[in-house]
Amino acid sequence: MHARYSGELGLRAPRCCVSIGSSYGLLWYDVDFLSFPLAVTGMPTALITGITGQDGSYLAEHLLAKGYRVCGIVRRSSTTPYERIAHLIDDIELFSADLLDQTSLVDAVDAVKPDEIYNLAAQSFVQTSWTQPVLTGEFTALGVTRALEAMRKAAPKARFYQASSSEQFGKVVETPQSENTPFYPRSPYGVAKVYGHWITVNYRESFDLYAVSGILFNHESPRRGLEFVTRKISDGVARIKHGLATELRLGNLDARRDWGFAGDYVDAMWRMLQSDTPDDYVIGTGSTFSVQEFCAAAFGAVDLEWRDYVKQDERFFRPAEVDLLVADPTKAKTQLGWTPTVTFEELVRRMVEADMDRWAQRRG
Ligand code: NAP
Ligand code: GDD
Repeated sequence: MHARYSGELGLRAPRCCVSIGSSYGLLWYDVDFLSFPLAVTGMPTALITGITGQDGSYLAEHLLAKGYRVCGIVRRSSTTPYERIAHLIDDIELFSADLLDQTSLVDAVDAVKPDEIYNLAAQSFVQTSWTQPVLTGEFTALGVTRALEAMRKAAPKARFYQASSSEQFGKVVETPQSENTPFYPRSPYGVAKVYGHWITVNYRESFDLYAVSGILFNHESPRRGLEFVTRKISDGVARIKHGLATELRLGNLDARRDWGFAGDYVDAMWRMLQSDTPDDYVIGTGSTFSVQEFCAAAFGAVDLEWRDYVKQDERFFRPAEVDLLVADPTKAKTQLGWTPTVTFEELVRRMVEADMDRWAQRRG
């Protein structure tokens, strides 16, 4: 197998080898910066930072289905973090760059010449932002400025999407939360996202760039990282059901979130960039459930009672909690025609089923 091309014809740039983990073992893909430029075929070109993440993988699929040329930025790693995009590897183009490195971002944007840039890369785990607050600020806050600068210098006519977050509402000052709700972040991650949000607005107003923020509420899938509570629960349920664990240790069970399906949310990102006028939108379902209710639904999906297995553990409590999030997605519905398609119950069922299958396969 061979990853298709990367870069402009004739551009002198380093070659980059990318290793991909898959169910077939370790494969090596040679990302050749000197191959044929797909951009000349007239398809719109998208550049995705964070393409190896949950949202990046769904967005890549979504844009490929629409006929886009899809390029992604990956950071150098000695291991194989590309499992979410292994199935797309023949259809996408990967460029080596890092949110911490301005030059690499400018070079990547200059090589790709994108029509649309989706800035999804971040240190995205809230809990880690208390133990690595400076790094979180570098990635999640200043990384946005670096990405915007790269676009301003190398592709100023492109359209820019920033992955803002409902964590910006934090200790909410009103419910539900809309585009007009003031921010009150409760973690270094939330603070960094507020910076990323406002620098995007500022570049739009200062430099007349097409730059928008999507304030997305929690969205999940079988591809969610195992550290996030929904996937931790679905994985825990599957391990208990398969006899591989006897309990699941969690923190605050009372926190409430507006959980949707990630596949729906990448469609909202795309719709934002198709609008004639750049603007910011809240994206969520408008329903809220507690961690405890997620547990009940997930254990219930395999006929188990959650109270028999879930134990509370101080280690998973946070120094400052976001107690309640619920979106008012009216603006996205009316102006973008966006609506979520997957219910809470269906989302939980899909996640538990996927982890049940995964553990069944692992056990042979
Ligand atoms: P994720 O699964 O944690 O993916 C994060 C991505 O960022 C990965 O591809 C990661 O690459 C990349 N990345 C991290 N640091 C980087 C760096 N220094 N340089 C280049 N790439 C780097 O996150 P997600 O759930 O897909 O979320 C996507 C974005 O939406 C994030 O900005 C997140 O904060 C935001 N968001 C998410 C939600 C949600 O509920 N999922 C809600 C609101 C906002 P590696 O694979 O190399 O680690
Ligand atoms: N991770 C985790 N692990 N969370 C737990 C646990 C546990 O064992 N027990 C309870 N929780 C609670 C957390 O305290 C929090 O209130 C809630 O479950 C959700 O936690 P996460 O799944 O880690 O997500 P998050 O809401 O903090 O952040 C996610 O959503 C944001 C959008 O609102 C991330 O995807 C962020 O990147 C995103 O911006």
